[in-house]
Amino acid sequence: MTWREYHEFTKHNPSSLRRTLHVLDWANMPDPFRHYDGVPVLDLPADPPVPETPALEVLRGVSGAATAAEGPTFLSQLLFYSAAISASKRVPSTGYRYALRVNPSSGNLHPTEFHFLARGLKDWPDGLYHYRPSAHMAEQRALGNLDMRWTDSSAPVVFLFTTIAWREAWKYRDRAYRYCLHDIGHAWQALALAGRAIGCDSFARGHFPDDEVAQSCRLHEDEWPMLVVELRGPSIPMRASCTAAETVWYGGHANRLSTDDVVYPRIHAIHTATKLGDGCGGISAAGPAAIGSGEIKLPLPASSTRAFGEVARMRRSALDFVGGAQSMSFAQLSAVLAAATALLSADFAASRFIQLYLYVHRVDGLQPGVYRFWQGSAELEQIRSGDQRVQAAGLSLGQDLAGNACASFSMIADIERAVRAHGDRGYRYVHFEAGAIGHRLYLAAEALGLAATGIGAFYDDEVHDYLNLASGQGQVVYHFAIGYPVPDPRLEA
Ligand SMILES: Cc1cc2nc3c(=O)[nH]c(=O)nc-3n(C[C@H](O)[C@H](O)[C@H](O)COP(=O)(O)O)c2cc1C
Repeated sequence: MTWREYHEFTKHNPSSLRRTLHVLDWANMPDPFRHYDGVPVLDLPADPPVPETPALEVLRGVSGAATAAEGPTFLSQLLFYSAAISASKRVPSTGYRYALRVNPSSGNLHPTEFHFLARGLKDWPDGLYHYRPSAHMAEQRALGNLDMRWTDSSAPVVFLFTTIAWREAWKYRDRAYRYCLHDIGHAWQALALAGRAIGCDSFARGHFPDDEVAQSCRLHEDEWPMLVVELRGPSIPMRASCTAAETVWYGGHANRLSTDDVVYPRIHAIHTATKLGDGCGGISAAGPAAIGSGEIKLPLPASSTRAFGEVARMRRSALDFVGGAQSMSFAQLSAVLAAATALLSADFAASRFIQLYLYVHRVDGLQPGVYRFWQGSAELEQIRSGDQRVQAAGLSLGQDLAGNACASFSMIADIERAVRAHGDRGYRYVHFEAGAIGHRLYLAAEALGLAATGIGAFYDDEVHDYLNLASGQGQVVYHFAIGYPVPDPRLEA
């Protein structure tokens, strides 16, 4: 299967949805928490210090101050502000309570797992760990110096994000692989920005030999390696000297997530098509993104002093937005766009593949209409005028939130250019980039007193037609909405 076959097959259109007979099998819902049982579990100190640097500054690339004096506090802080449980919801009719995390996830199904290698941290044993968000603890899967040739041994902390596609496919079936990739993009930025807020630099690698990584980390077969993120910087508390220690493997037994894992052959096929083998060598450079201009210059971005730590943990997806008259300012929109499209530090991100299109509903000083955002010149080009609320909601599978927002977005990906440079692996990269932009939209909106929601469900080809995209001019990969959230009665903390 090629990326194109998978992508075409998983497009939504009104008639394909009418034909859908899928009923959720609640008794077989996959457990959103993976445990590797039978290994030592290390506590991460509770209530780590709050990263105080304003979130908008962190999104602009400003580094926060180091506040952790030893490894456990550093790791606790990093994970508490990127991957931990941050709230819960209770269904009033049944009393059923479920957890929400700092990183968002389509359907709150959380296919992404966080593993990390630690080397030379102060008061923390070297080894390979798996993060257990349900208890904010680290499962020690191996101890000592591990020879992982797929990562740079000079980085003291290296994260490996894996995905468990079945968790997502349980609800979204074949289209789920797209959402797994988006979720990795969100997790990447959740971690990279938390790292930045506590003074670390990060670099993400998408180009690695998949099977070698999976085997060297002894991953359970339902976990697929997706992204490696290396962290460096003087704020990481290190031991004075690093002595080579013998490797001891505990491994652990991965918990079973459902009684019956349903296999989706198309997901396996697209995953196989995007894998790299042992001799994958270095990553190639992609051609440059199109350059263009618009008639409207963005104003100076609005500012906000809300601390990164507070913003990261308060971020929530809005259920819906308050329609009516309340608008956002053009300066706020400018801040959101600047944050969303700032530099990304990754081997596949030197050339960007996503262009943002905006459906503007209520932004002061900007007429309702559809605009194309030219990132290089920070300009908007109007491509349609008039009220877009009905169309924006309709294109997002009839979800009202895309029309009730102040502005909503289509992310259009130049998949062809990505694939020319990276082969089918490029299909992963455009979705990682979309998820990363989405995460930045969430945090920027929250910092400015607004809220956002990622929207993975849209009528693909109808979006292309509405935006007048010629064939080969790009594919819609993600939608987003930003505005004033309606209160969510299910939210508990
Ligand atoms: C890739 C992705 C796609 C999503 N698609 C939708 C969507 O189509 N409609 C919607 O209401 N929410 C959507 N969401 C929001 C999730 O439902 C939300 O993140 C999840 O319930 C967890 O809530 P939280 O974001 O408040 O942590 C999406 C989120 C992600 C990351």
